[in-house]
Amino acid sequence: MTVHFIGAGPGAPDLLTLRGRDIIAACPVCLYAGSLVPEAILSHCPADAKVINTASMDLDAIITEIKQAHAAGQDIARLHSGDLSVWSAMGEQLRRLKAEGIPFSVTPGVPSFAAAAASLGAELTLPGLAQSVVLTRTPGRASTMPEGETLKNFAATGATLAIHLSITNLATVVSDLTPSYGAECPVAVVYRASWPDERIIRGTLADIESQISEDIARTALILVGPALAGEGFTESCLYSTDYDRRYRPQTAESPWASWQEGDD
Ligand SMILES: C[S@@+](CC[C@H](N)C(=O)[O-])C[C@H]1O[C@@H](n2cnc3c(N)ncnc32)[C@H](O)[C@@H]1O
Repeated sequence: MTVHFIGAGPGAPDLLTLRGRDIIAACPVCLYAGSLVPEAILSHCPADAKVINTASMDLDAIITEIKQAHAAGQDIARLHSGDLSVWSAMGEQLRRLKAEGIPFSVTPGVPSFAAAAASLGAELTLPGLAQSVVLTRTPGRASTMPEGETLKNFAATGATLAIHLSITNLATVVSDLTPSYGAECPVAVVYRASWPDERIIRGTLADIESQISEDIARTALILVGPALAGEGFTESCLYSTDYDRRYRPQTAESPWASWQEGDD
């Protein structure tokens, strides 16, 4: 018996890996995390599967459910939205499973920041503008931030910021970032990326607040940084005509000229 953690993606049912789909189809038990996992993904479960929404359960109740399935020798598909590596609460479940000696596997999913960037048609790392993406959040009612992980500190790097779980803190986001990025820095808010009711709001640090209506109160990502402009960047060396590289040596004297697949 194994608990299979599966990243269910950002919302569109077809943004699920084939591996995830196949595991779901093979598991007699499915535990899924609330409203962000679309119904269509649950349709991959076997017709007689036990399917439980864990949104209203506490960790003890979830582990009890897992232990029951473990005792019965039933595999579990454990679905969380997006990818499991960020804000999935997988860590605390894994710690309990390790203590109980219950086997698990992890199948990645499409994270919401990637889905939001796709909806924007944006590359978040543009040469000369930004070469790092910071996945972060602001403090919430139930979560403080470790010292040092402040928006002001991240802003000092000039990186592209993908700010999760923070649409209701937009005023703080704007005031913390404006001193480093400037009021004209581009911002995009993507609400429910990849869902049928997705909305994209583009603006600057100066005007984004005035553009966000009250109904955008959750499931939105705030992307900030000069790369969001999609212009003013240099071209990468990857496809440059005169850049000497392993797959495209420019001269017979190039150190790459004699390189073959399989060489270091
Ligand atoms: C609990 S976190 C889950 C993150 C998820 N594990 C991931 O990989 O993106 C929920 C937050 O992720 C962001 N989010 C999740 N799905 C989203 C979507 N489809 N569109 C925009 N933001 C989304 C929002 O900021 C939301 O408040």
